[in-house]
Amino acid sequence: MDGFKLSLLSFLPFVFVLAIAVEATGDEIGTFIVHVQPQESHVAATADDRKEWYKTFLPEDGRLVHAYHHVASGFAARLTRQELDVVSAMPGFVSAVPDQTHTLQTTHTPQFLGLSAPPPPQGKRWSSSSHGGSGAGAGVIVGVIDTGVFPDHPSFSDAGMPPPPAKWKGHCDFNGGSVCNSKLIGARTFIANATNSSSSYGERLPPVDDVGHGTHTASTAAGAAVPGAHVLGQGLGVAAGIAPHAHVAVYKVCPNESCAISDILAGVDAAIADGCDVISISIGGPSVPFHENPVAVGTFGAMEKGVFVSMAAGNAGPNVSSVINDAPWMLTVAASTMDRSIRTTVRLGNGLYFDGESLYQPNDSPSTFYPLVYAGASGKPSAEFCGNGSLDGFDVRGKIVVCEFGGGPNITRIIKGAVVQSAGGAGMILPNHFPEGYTTLAEAHVLPASHVDYVAGLAIKAYINSTANPVAQILPRGTVLGTTPAPAMAFFSSRGPSVQNPGILKPDITGPGVNVLAAWPFQVGPSSAQVYPGPTFNIISGTSMSTPHLSGVAAFIKSRHPHWSPAAIKSAIMTTADITDRSGNPILDEQRAPANFFATGAGHVNPEKAADPGLVYDIAPCDYVGYLCGLYTSQEVSVIARRPVNCSAVAAIPEHQLNYPSISVKFPRAWNSSEPVLVRRTAKNVGEVPSEYYAAVDMLDTTVTVRVFPRTLRFTGVNQEKDFTVVVWPGQGGARVVQGAVRWVSETHTVRSPVSVTFA
Ligand SMILES: *[C@@H]1O[C@H](CO)[C@@H](O)[C@H](O)[C@H]1NC(C)=O
Ligand SMILES: *[C@@H]1O[C@H](CO)[C@@H](O)[C@H](O)[C@H]1NC(C)=O
Ligand SMILES: *[C@@H]1O[C@H](CO)[C@@H](O)[C@H](O)[C@H]1NC(C)=O
Ligand SMILES: *[C@@H]1O[C@H](CO)[C@@H](O)[C@H](O)[C@H]1NC(C)=O
Ligand SMILES: *[C@@H]1O[C@H](CO)[C@@H](O)[C@H](O)[C@H]1NC(C)=O
Ligand SMILES: *[C@@H]1O[C@H](CO)[C@@H](O)[C@H](O)[C@H]1NC(C)=O
Ligand SMILES: *[C@@H]1O[C@H](CO)[C@@H](O)[C@H](O)[C@H]1NC(C)=O
Ligand SMILES: *[C@@H]1O[C@H](CO)[C@@H](O)[C@H](O)[C@H]1NC(C)=O
Ligand SMILES: *[C@@H]1O[C@H](CO)[C@@H](O)[C@H](O)[C@H]1NC(C)=O
Repeated sequence: MDGFKLSLLSFLPFVFVLAIAVEATGDEIGTFIVHVQPQESHVAATADDRKEWYKTFLPEDGRLVHAYHHVASGFAARLTRQELDVVSAMPGFVSAVPDQTHTLQTTHTPQFLGLSAPPPPQGKRWSSSSHGGSGAGAGVIVGVIDTGVFPDHPSFSDAGMPPPPAKWKGHCDFNGGSVCNSKLIGARTFIANATNSSSSYGERLPPVDDVGHGTHTASTAAGAAVPGAHVLGQGLGVAAGIAPHAHVAVYKVCPNESCAISDILAGVDAAIADGCDVISISIGGPSVPFHENPVAVGTFGAMEKGVFVSMAAGNAGPNVSSVINDAPWMLTVAASTMDRSIRTTVRLGNGLYFDGESLYQPNDSPSTFYPLVYAGASGKPSAEFCGNGSLDGFDVRGKIVVCEFGGGPNITRIIKGAVVQSAGGAGMILPNHFPEGYTTLAEAHVLPASHVDYVAGLAIKAYINSTANPVAQILPRGTVLGTTPAPAMAFFSSRGPSVQNPGILKPDITGPGVNVLAAWPFQVGPSSAQVYPGPTFNIISGTSMSTPHLSGVAAFIKSRHPHWSPAAIKSAIMTTADITDRSGNPILDEQRAPANFFATGAGHVNPEKAADPGLVYDIAPCDYVGYLCGLYTSQEVSVIARRPVNCSAVAAIPEHQLNYPSISVKFPRAWNSSEPVLVRRTAKNVGEVPSEYYAAVDMLDTTVTVRVFPRTLRFTGVNQEKDFTVVVWPGQGGARVVQGAVRWVSETHTVRSPVSVTFA
């Protein structure tokens, strides 16, 4: 049963693809995720009871693929359509969705998975010492749902780590457990045998990372500090996770770039049961209603158990409403740049210079001018993309070739370089198209190369047109720190507003996701590259990379505040985020225009401030039920809540009334403009006592008026709660989207909630 596809969300080789759904014929067997609910007479207390009960829905032994405990009231099973019809007529059946899997459409080899730039411990901001010192993440377990792990990397050394906390119940499936230690405390595989109905999965497959993605994300979240980290000599520094004292548990659910949802759920189920505090998921599929999205259902279960879930916002930006993983119980993470460039500079024969990026900078890079040629000049259709075969019969020997960005998932940027090289080219210049703007990626190309921005690309192409014998050179410049603007939004980072719940502002937050250096199982770059001794790292990009940064921040907060709920941790992260870049200017997008909240969410994460937010907006698990009843039918809500819910007996609330740390209000076109919307919030004091906060409103656009009542909140106790109301009056005409903020300001804290007002 082929369905939609899910992919890992690292930007390159992991292209986000939607497969065509294939309608199965009646007797074709496929995997379905089936939601069931007990009849009153039936109570399944233990996991074994549940499994037996689930089996009563199935025609024969061997059909059950995964029996879920925490992530669904239900199971994954292999069934024909006809058999599913029988199951759906049984008492207790609620709904079923076909399993969705995901296939990467690239022809990469592991070497080609090496993407671009510098390591997380870069600069001061992301070094372990700057956000928590010796205690960063201590006592907290981060579960990473991904491609497995390369356990022998020093990023998973347990030097100085205490043993896992007593609550840990997980397992290590490497060689009888000998490879796990007090850092990497668990590692298991949850990949069902897709074509074998005997469902022999799990124990027998060690959770080895054959891809690199899982090793990279796990070490980004909680890797140990490794000095002298670099990739092909670039990005040299100390590589360390954001919460270097946290424990890591790895759940391998993807054999390659394809991850079955049924397996993802099994991994999340185990992570909850094992005692993980934070779950990091750099995987995503298309946006669908939450009750039809098993991962949304499963993470709801995690949230109910107090487990924080951080998920990738997607790599389909800059398109509007491309954000995925957008349920309010998830932290939805966007991606932005850091202040580091792995620079190669293009010098043209007319004296102009343009800075670009490439990870591979051989010492013998061309230092003289070479003839410069535009690949599209060959006249072949789509030759400008330098796909395999496109340069056949076009003489590029000894020349630097300009290859356009893009051209489809099979023409990765590294393949373009390989095509140029095999045609005898001396180098490659890779200019952005307009949508990619100023975002450039430092990747492990196989020849001297430079990925340049759109504006540079226009100038380079104009120069080629302007002269009979254009020439250029590519100068290796090495790793440059302190580049500006930073952070800036990456073009690929998916944008809001959320299709599924426009009344919740998504994404929530942005973190480093461009050219991120972290552990990798093997050396990257061309096979001719110098072999470096020591541990291997790679630099890659995507919301896959920003997500584990935020998982690490959540672990860091959780270790300081063990009793905070997932919603309180999210509130702390969002209300303390930076809305300016390191130069003090508004955070810019890939076009160097001020980025709106649909790109940045609440802003760029500030880990130090997030640990001491002053106030939090908390949400109890039951509060989400009223919110869900505002969106869906009782049966749909029952799937998500994993128990019968009667929405007629629940106080349903509109989306904007959920006690979320940001505010999103949508006015219908025909709204009576003298009628305001009242948004209620409850702030909980987690800072000093007594304390007094004053309301401030930042709305630059006068088409919307925002007021806060009362204007002062006085707290006399820890965890004391105070209600307030934000009144939003729409104005006449004007902008379609107006964005600003409500801030509660005390002597020591500023608690900022972004406010986004849209007009249909
Ligand atoms: C299914 O399992 C069998 C036996 O364990 C194995 O030989 C086969 O390769 C597996 N198939 C897939 C697609 O993993
Ligand atoms: C399925 O797996 C079983 C053992 O787990 C094996 O005996 C059988 O041959 C496999 N079937 C297929 C079609 O791979
Ligand atoms: C990924 O692994 C699955 C299961 O082994 C396999 O069926 C699929 O073809 C693989 N996909 C790719 C792109 O290699
Ligand atoms: C963005 O939208 C355009 C126009 O609808 C489409 O051609 C393009 O494929 C989209 N990009 C992504 C990354 O989805
Ligand atoms: C990409 O390559 C795969 C596998 O070789 C092929 O099935 C697919 O059609 C190709 N896609 C495009 C857009 O060329
Ligand atoms: C191009 O295609 C040919 C034949 O399919 C293959 O042998 C070669 O490795 C490919 N080259 C690149 C750079 O992918
Ligand atoms: C270069 O010349 C070609 C052909 O005349 C034209 O299509 C293209 O727009 C020109 N490019 C620039 C950047 O001027
Ligand atoms: C749902 O609740 C309403 C109001 O309490 C009640 O009238 C109705 O019978 C309930 N429906 C079910 C299916 O329990
Ligand atoms: C808009 O609301 C105001 C105040 O409630 C009311 O007086 C007025 O009649 C309404 N206008 C329309 C067109 O509904």
